[in-house]
Amino acid sequence: MLRVQPVKRIEGTVRVPGDKSISHRAVMFGALAEGTTTIEGFLPGADCLSTIDCFRRMGVKIEQAGDRVTVYGKGWYGLEEPSQHLDVGNSGTTIRLMAGILATQPFHAVMEGDESIAKRPMRRVIGPLRQMGAKIDGRKDGEYTPLSIRGGGLQGISYQSPVASAQVKSAILLAGLQATGVTSVTEPQLSRDHTERMLQAFGVKVVRDGLTVSVEGGQTLTGRAIRVPGDISSAAFLIAAVMMVPGSSLLIENVGVNPSRTGIIDVVRAMGGRIELQNERIVNEEPVADLLVTHSELRGIEIGGEIIPRLIDEIPVIAVMATRANGRTVIRDAEELRVKETDRIATVASQLSKFGASVTPTPDGLIVEGATQLTGAAIDSMGDHRIGMAMAIAGLAAEGETVIANDAAINVSFPGFADLLARISIR
Ligand code: S3P
Repeated sequence: MLRVQPVKRIEGTVRVPGDKSISHRAVMFGALAEGTTTIEGFLPGADCLSTIDCFRRMGVKIEQAGDRVTVYGKGWYGLEEPSQHLDVGNSGTTIRLMAGILATQPFHAVMEGDESIAKRPMRRVIGPLRQMGAKIDGRKDGEYTPLSIRGGGLQGISYQSPVASAQVKSAILLAGLQATGVTSVTEPQLSRDHTERMLQAFGVKVVRDGLTVSVEGGQTLTGRAIRVPGDISSAAFLIAAVMMVPGSSLLIENVGVNPSRTGIIDVVRAMGGRIELQNERIVNEEPVADLLVTHSELRGIEIGGEIIPRLIDEIPVIAVMATRANGRTVIRDAEELRVKETDRIATVASQLSKFGASVTPTPDGLIVEGATQLTGAAIDSMGDHRIGMAMAIAGLAAEGETVIANDAAINVSFPGFADLLARISIR
């Protein structure tokens, strides 16, 4: 149980844990590379630890202590056939990117995860990997876990993805690195491009032309040192905390500000909030900055279209901020939320309503009327890390105590969340 009391204000200078997307990729690419990869700022959250566990089960030596990791790369064909199932836990990124890697491997492997993973759609990656020649099966013709894969002998494809998904794009590009000819993926909108950037950092040639990315088969990766910036998706909860409580301000240092991830900054600014980027720099092909966040009164806005993939994981906490904004906030084109760790349209609406907020779910988003005074409530994370954290932030501005059940889910992406929040809370 996580207990949250209202605060007078939020104040301080903090860092958030490492970026989840970048941490997964650093381990995976390090395992496939020739030579050693060292990772600093790794996210030691449950999801990224699942990735480490899976690659260890394929014979890769990986040392991890806190946010420092060393991966002793075995080269693309040094992975060993796993003698047990690969358990991805709660991690969609692990299972989908690993599907692309296993599609290239001339052995058999079975992947499975927790109850939430068992409900998430997999054919979006399995379909194109089958087109490339991988033999993959799973429940409901490969839509659901467990998935079993026997890879190898792939041909390059040109794939038009129906969804803007970095997981789909990454799986196909990774498979394409060991397919014959060129593999390209075109997406309807740009999804996060960490794979493209990090592959280049590992010495791979990646070609981008608008919304199409291509790689040529037969390329190898070379191990290197990677510094992972703080996760903007974790920083988003702290940004929201500042916006919920008048008089607050916070400096969040060392945050990744890749343009394919900064929709949250654009939205908070459009709502009237203040975020200043300081000390902007590039670290391993990724833009990084310190964020100075200052409270201001918010107004409701409309959010939809191409910005959605740039803030998809932040929508639960944007809905929380919208309860304190004047007027109506409308979020649309976000039907992907229905297939995240939970159906986040349904879980945001059900949990946020418990605070007395006016939230209406729609098929592809949410409508929030503000500003309402929230009342502390008994909340359930429903096993979804971002729902647990978003509701904790709502609790900071509610009257009375908020209690969050199933708060252990928060460890998936933000270990130390409750302690960090306590550290910046002035009572
Ligand atoms: C991720 C991509 C996104 C995001 C997830 C992490 C990644 O999912 O929601 O938290 O690391 O590639 P989709 O690619 O399915 O949209």
